[in-house]
Amino acid sequence: MTTLSQRPANPVVGQAIPHESAALHVTGAALYTDDLVVRTSGVLHAHPVQAPHAHARVTRLDPAPALRVPGVVRVLTAADVPGVNDAGVKHDEPLFPSEVMFHGHAVCWVLGETLEAARLGSLAVEVDYEPLPSIVTIAEAVAAQSFQGGQPRLERGDVEAGFAGADHVFSGELDIAGQEHFYLETHCSLAQVDEAGQVFVQCSTQHPTETQDIVAHVLGVPSHAVTVQCLRMGGGFGGKEMQPHGYAAVAALGAILTGRPVRLRLSRTQDITMTGKRHGFHAQWRAGFSHEGMLQALDVTLTSDGGWSLDLSEPVLARALCHVDNAYWVPHIRVNGRIARTHKTSQTAFRGFGGPQGMLVTEDLLGRCAPLLGIDPVELRRRNFYREGQETPYGQQVRHAERAVACWDQVLAGGDVVARRRAVAAHNATHPHTRRGLAVTPVKFGISFNFTAFNQAGALVHVYKDGSVLVTHGGTEMGQGLHTKMLQVAATALGVPLSSVRLAPTRTDKVPNTSATAASSGADLNGAAVKDACEQILERLRPLREDPANAGLSWSELVGKAYFQRVQLWAAGFYRTEGLHWDSTAMHGSPFKYFAYGAAAAEVEVDGFTGAHHLRRVDIVHDVGDSLSPLVDLGQVEGAFAQGVGWLTLEDLRWDESDGQTRGRLATQAASTYKLPSFSELPEVFNVALLERAHEDGAVYGSKAVGEPPLMLAFAVREALREAAAAFGPPGTSVDLACPATPEAVFWAVEQARGGATPPGQSPVVEGGTGVVPAQPDSGAPPLAPRSERLARTGER
Ligand code: MTE
Ligand code: MOS
Repeated sequence: MTTLSQRPANPVVGQAIPHESAALHVTGAALYTDDLVVRTSGVLHAHPVQAPHAHARVTRLDPAPALRVPGVVRVLTAADVPGVNDAGVKHDEPLFPSEVMFHGHAVCWVLGETLEAARLGSLAVEVDYEPLPSIVTIAEAVAAQSFQGGQPRLERGDVEAGFAGADHVFSGELDIAGQEHFYLETHCSLAQVDEAGQVFVQCSTQHPTETQDIVAHVLGVPSHAVTVQCLRMGGGFGGKEMQPHGYAAVAALGAILTGRPVRLRLSRTQDITMTGKRHGFHAQWRAGFSHEGMLQALDVTLTSDGGWSLDLSEPVLARALCHVDNAYWVPHIRVNGRIARTHKTSQTAFRGFGGPQGMLVTEDLLGRCAPLLGIDPVELRRRNFYREGQETPYGQQVRHAERAVACWDQVLAGGDVVARRRAVAAHNATHPHTRRGLAVTPVKFGISFNFTAFNQAGALVHVYKDGSVLVTHGGTEMGQGLHTKMLQVAATALGVPLSSVRLAPTRTDKVPNTSATAASSGADLNGAAVKDACEQILERLRPLREDPANAGLSWSELVGKAYFQRVQLWAAGFYRTEGLHWDSTAMHGSPFKYFAYGAAAAEVEVDGFTGAHHLRRVDIVHDVGDSLSPLVDLGQVEGAFAQGVGWLTLEDLRWDESDGQTRGRLATQAASTYKLPSFSELPEVFNVALLERAHEDGAVYGSKAVGEPPLMLAFAVREALREAAAAFGPPGTSVDLACPATPEAVFWAVEQARGGATPPGQSPVVEGGTGVVPAQPDSGAPPLAPRSERLARTGER
């Protein structure tokens, strides 16, 4: 046991303070990367030439006509790359491709004095393509056996014996939607070169170190020649974990070749057509239950749509496999995973990182099977919860399983769920054209990177002679409030007021070799590193502090005195999470420091004529440990929940699956056709509470990660929609609900409940049907691609 989680008296952590940049955000004064362009002189602007094919060979590329366009300065092509022509970590992402792999793929970049000149130049570049056959859907990829990466299997117990002993066996399928990040700030980099060839890239990136790595290898220079700084991001949500690197490299290459600053900012249309999204998944499952509804056996095959390159698809899939269990004990379980290779954007990290897709499979099947088992879904879920001492399918103890129960019970009580479900039933008995549903779902989410090496962080704390403090740490700020928490941690650790501490932007020459700010672990990792640095400084000050002659000195007087005694007043802090181990081949170990828990109750109303629905009330209890910053955490819970509701009920990525000219084109390219959640989709009544008395031993000041887990609380909304749709049919009706549950999808569920057709794209749950379970990926599946030379670039996570 360390003292990491212990708080001193009157700590600054735990105070409900606003986000450190809230005033700057709302007044427009906050600087984002692109705001630096007007403060920089001589900037060139980059514009891509995007291919109009899902799959094609580039047979001719002639930049000459573009160079005749006024204002065009240079066209960047593969021939210009001094290092490696690759933007990824798996060596499968040519930065300047000779083979177009998705509709909208950039084949070269034009630099202009103005963005308009660069745009006109991009239209003048002559490119000939030889179209090739393309694969757009998971089904097409499966038919063509088009897969990429490893095909992991997670297994525990004796699955066949589990099914043999089950009283009921059901099977079904589910198509799980992808999701566009739609961060308000699109991808952006601004690169400059100094007199010695040192490259400085300002970038909207969640992973400055990896941006640095990729820029360095594209330029063919060592990492010390590249510095990456991230002021802040206008949202990342996982979309800037790996995808900024190539754009940063293009800007850096342009800066090297022209000697001028180069700005590359994607327009919304470019961003949505070029960058990766949440992975869509296809799931096939078979589930065995006892008469009492206890899960006996589960067999799932997950096929994710990785798009054209691997990117983070393997670790996303691994997290999906590790989260199929959600909060439930399943004695016999097998989950197979594989990644389809399709001609689409390279799908990537998105809040939850595969966890949501894995968990949705089980929440969906519980919702579908409950009526068939004749068990109330609230009861069915509760019965199957983990108990203390049980292990996950990958062999980790489920510590604090009772917290799931605590969240659940508090949601039921605080949300007055029992009485309100009676009211829902009464409404449904008297309203022929509208039906209501009220569902409750749990969340259990593992915190830490599965890839053990990423669970480290650094910080640099400077105490100046006047006692003021400047903190730099390895994490990035994307709106999630990490910097706010780090200020509170530093003030607490040093015992100084918040006003004495200031944060410097994240940069790779201050804190090197950082991990992505991801996996919700930013505060856990960087907070512990900041605390470590502060404690080193305090330790050096100890003789002075303990000297009775100095009693009564203020902090700044003490620090001033220390300076004259030549005490080092700054320190580099470091932290690594102990006790983690993970075998990614066996899919076994204890990859997570702890689990975050939560529960949500959601009530919806559905219109039987149209499937239109609205959220009447939501109650949430979520476990963030002892909160470092309660306002920030509440905002994270609300925001994640809303983003989950968007994913599950509104946001509908449509790709052209026809055989026409525009095959593979993303049809939903803008907010006009891609519906995002907004205030109007928020529940009429929205009660969010943080679980109390939730101290987490072994995490910084007893807190827990918050960024991703609450997204999955939105399952309650989807299950409420299912129950409302089912209520159009006789009692005991089981309905299949497409994902996303748009009004159209809900309409089809209502039709199914009324005895009509199965929702399009959904196969009904069949009892006992083992026939639908697919052939398992054969055990001779190709092993994971060989590791590249540097750990941080293995593409693991
Ligand atoms: N909150 C805001 N406002 N903007 C974001 O981009 N990203 C989410 C989450 N919350 C995000 C956010 C994701 S995907 C993660 S992994 C975490 O924040 C990362 O930050 P943390 O580790 O500091 O929680
Ligand atoms: Mo978050 S998807 O781990 O960046």
